[in-house]
Amino acid sequence: MLELKHVKKSYDNVTILEDMNLKIQDGEIVSILGPSGCGKTTLLNLVLGLTPADSGQIIFDGKDITEVPMEERGFNIVFQDYALFPNLNVYKNITYGLKNRPGISSEKEVEEFIDLLGLREHLDKKIEQLSGGQKQRVALARTMVMKPKILLLDEPLSALDGVIKESIKEKIKEIARDFHLTTIIVTHDPEEALTLSDKVLIVNKGRISQYGAPREIIMTPQNNFVKEFILNQLEIKKNNIFALFHQNMARSMQAV
Ligand SMILES: Nc1ncnc2c1ncn2[C@@H]1O[C@H](COP(=O)(O)OP(=O)(O)O)[C@@H](O)[C@H]1O
Ligand SMILES: [Mg+2]
Repeated sequence: MLELKHVKKSYDNVTILEDMNLKIQDGEIVSILGPSGCGKTTLLNLVLGLTPADSGQIIFDGKDITEVPMEERGFNIVFQDYALFPNLNVYKNITYGLKNRPGISSEKEVEEFIDLLGLREHLDKKIEQLSGGQKQRVALARTMVMKPKILLLDEPLSALDGVIKESIKEKIKEIARDFHLTTIIVTHDPEEALTLSDKVLIVNKGRISQYGAPREIIMTPQNNFVKEFILNQLEIKKNNIFALFHQNMARSMQAV
């Protein structure tokens, strides 16, 4: 279990995160959802160990890891821009981290991740030759071969759309389930958060607005922010879909 207790973070005397308290059970998929600039990436970096907390505690498996450096925490992140190495091919990108930590995944396991993420035919390609979805899968494979204790994903779907977005979403779910891997996903899209995760952490102005299962959030939003920001966005999306549907219907009726 991962637990944050009274974690606080400010930059240049401006409070970014205030009194973060939460528990994430092993194997859970948790989305951190909130508007741009509310501190989602900061929260992810605090868990990763890239950014130190000002105060509070981070506990993992009963051990206080607040002061434990990033490399020793054993968590891994897929950054928002993937941060792949443009001068290396796909295979070398995937296996890059193993150079310093040989044996963490066997050759056979690396091959399994390559197949799981459908990258077999792309191994010799350069990064610039890949689509957004393919880059995301390389970034996921590169992270998974390091056998992270927690998988952190910063806006993994925001650069993707349509069918590709859905397929990456399914891959993330499959990986989390198959490896019973605690997965924390940052997103600003309510639909993504509610369809992808076991629990959603809604953050607003550096505070937790609500934390619960998607069903709870939809059925019993705890405050106006959740109602207005989250559920209204979904409502608008739904209305847009219906409007589009009716337009298309009208068009096809005219065609007949
Ligand atoms: N290294 C930093 N130094 C100063 N301010 C930062 C730094 N990182 C983030 N911030 C500020 O913290 C706030 C939250 O940023 P961030 O966590 O990236 O938000 P989100 O990911 O939710 O969009 C923003 O106002 C941002 O400008
Ligand atoms: Mg961010």
